[in-house]
Amino acid sequence: MVLNVIIAEAALELIPIQVLDHPSVRNEARRRGVEPRDMLLDRSIHHAAMLKLEEHFKRGRPDLVYLTLLNATSTPLYQDGKAKVYIHTRDDIVLDFAERTRPPKSYTRFRDLMQQALFEKPDSGLIRVYDSTVKQILQRTGSGPKIGLSVQGGRMRLDELATRLGDSKESGVVIGGFPRGHFEPETTEGLERLVRIDERSLDAHVVVARLIYEVEKLVRGVG
Ligand SMILES: C[S@@+](CC[C@H](N)C(=O)[O-])C[C@H]1O[C@@H](n2cnc3c(N)ncnc32)[C@H](O)[C@@H]1O
Repeated sequence: MVLNVIIAEAALELIPIQVLDHPSVRNEARRRGVEPRDMLLDRSIHHAAMLKLEEHFKRGRPDLVYLTLLNATSTPLYQDGKAKVYIHTRDDIVLDFAERTRPPKSYTRFRDLMQQALFEKPDSGLIRVYDSTVKQILQRTGSGPKIGLSVQGGRMRLDELATRLGDSKESGVVIGGFPRGHFEPETTEGLERLVRIDERSLDAHVVVARLIYEVEKLVRGVG
């Protein structure tokens, strides 16, 4: 089986045009010796600039995407080629990681790699970048179950969810890559249902690690 993990509406983007001239952006670009448009939007640095942006509370958290990605790609399931990861951004850009590709463990190297990937949009190699909605990614992952994870979903035990996903040749699971808020309606369009795995809102990196471990127990017989 292959579990397709989509980190959706991820808070990962290059500095948007509206804030290219903001002092917090220009100062960082000068300090790093790069062009403002080549940098990632990051709330920890560009907070003041971000207040101008639409839905700013959902954006500018590359650190959160990094943690989620590392938690997914460090698992035995992923290393065995039985999980595949996509990062989908709010602008419908997808970073598609080739099977078993490991992102850098250093945050600085991850940041630089993401900046380059979003800027150059390579169409081949270990990370391919192309335009796609979540629905389109799901359509390409076969006819298996397609489940979204959200506090707004119906309650389901994690082991039941893992059984549902792990029983198919190919399945898709969508996890929000943003710090606050909920999925846009377009993100949930291709999903059969939304599922809540805990009463509390958890960080995406905790959700992805727990889910993959449950699927691993079925597929690899561990635990
Ligand atoms: C920090 S949350 C985003 C905030 C949002 N209010 C929420 O909890 O759904 C990041 C992502 O983790 C997943 N998530 C967090 N808590 C969850 C829960 N209790 N059940 C299912 N998914 C959850 C969802 O995919 C969510 O989009």
